Amino acid sequence: MGEPRNIENSAFKIETPLVLSEDEVQLWRVDLESIRSDEARWKEVLSPDEARRASRFHFAIDRQRFVAARALLRMILAGYLATGPKDVTFVYSKREKPSLGPACADRAITFNLSHSGGVALYAFARRRELGIDVEQIRGDFDVEAIARRFFSAHEQEQLAALPSPEKIEAFFRCWTRKEAYIKATGDGLSLSLTQFDVALGEGNTDALVATRPDSAEAKRWLLREVAAGTGYIAALCVRGQDWKLNDWSAVARSGPEAGPSGGERPSDRF
Ligand SMILES: CC(C)(COP(=O)(O)OP(=O)(O)OC[C@H]1O[C@@H](n2cnc3c(N)ncnc32)[C@H](O)[C@@H]1OP(=O)(O)O)[C@@H](O)C(=O)NCCC(=O)NCCS
Repeated sequence: MGEPRNIENSAFKIETPLVLSEDEVQLWRVDLESIRSDEARWKEVLSPDEARRASRFHFAIDRQRFVAARALLRMILAGYLATGPKDVTFVYSKREKPSLGPACADRAITFNLSHSGGVALYAFARRRELGIDVEQIRGDFDVEAIARRFFSAHEQEQLAALPSPEKIEAFFRCWTRKEAYIKATGDGLSLSLTQFDVALGEGNTDALVATRPDSAEAKRWLLREVAAGTGYIAALCVRGQDWKLNDWSAVARSGPEAGPSGGERPSDRF
């Protein structure tokens, strides 16, 4: 306890080592919007390939958010590994999912992160595959049309049955849950989005309701909604059913939740 799992400004301090038990998943939240302007500080801990990736962003705001998100990933992992942020190494799967490099792998820490708007969420566990997704809620697109493109028939039916004012949040619950599952498997979009169904209910803690063709797959994971702060919806998917969530919102709420920041470009994903 006492760790600043909700990082809202640059004055945080991560005590080393951070303790993470085998049956625990720890969730961190970082307000990227509040810390991104400290770019020079965050850049110091990046590897050369991360610095090169940062330099390719067209907009400064995207570069700063990437740099801050990656630096915080290194700093938190360094806390778990009792090492320095620059000493953390990564390897990438065929589909670009990062995991700890061989020099760090003995600690068996698994992680995943997601960013949207001004917020990043990070999930950490031991020896468990996991995926996390956060999305900033907005309504500047055709919900039904995007649902037809990405959601399974069952999910589209659930969405269509809802009254209009509830559709947008339900859409984002569906989207983040699907994304958290595909990120947990690491398969990205090579996994067909119509081969599994998620529940759309608010606060669901067991939301992977069906998988095809292997129906047993659904019970190998626990997919649940997690707190992301006002204006955001998020989901976490972790292998196994025998874990408990240690959530940033329960650990360290140091003030009012940060709302969505203004002046953002809409995502060009949809
Ligand atoms: C990475 C991916 C899986 C998710 O991307 P996204 O939602 O845009 O981005 P997020 O912020 O949630 O996650 C990005 C982070 O996930 C991690 N990541 C990258 N590839 C990953 C993969 N294949 N699996 C899991 N995590 C991955 C990285 O840490 C990345 O952070 P970085 O960009 O700072 O390095 C993306 O490649 C993808 O395939 N998205 C599918 C989009 C879609 O159509 N979804 C439909 C849902 S209904």
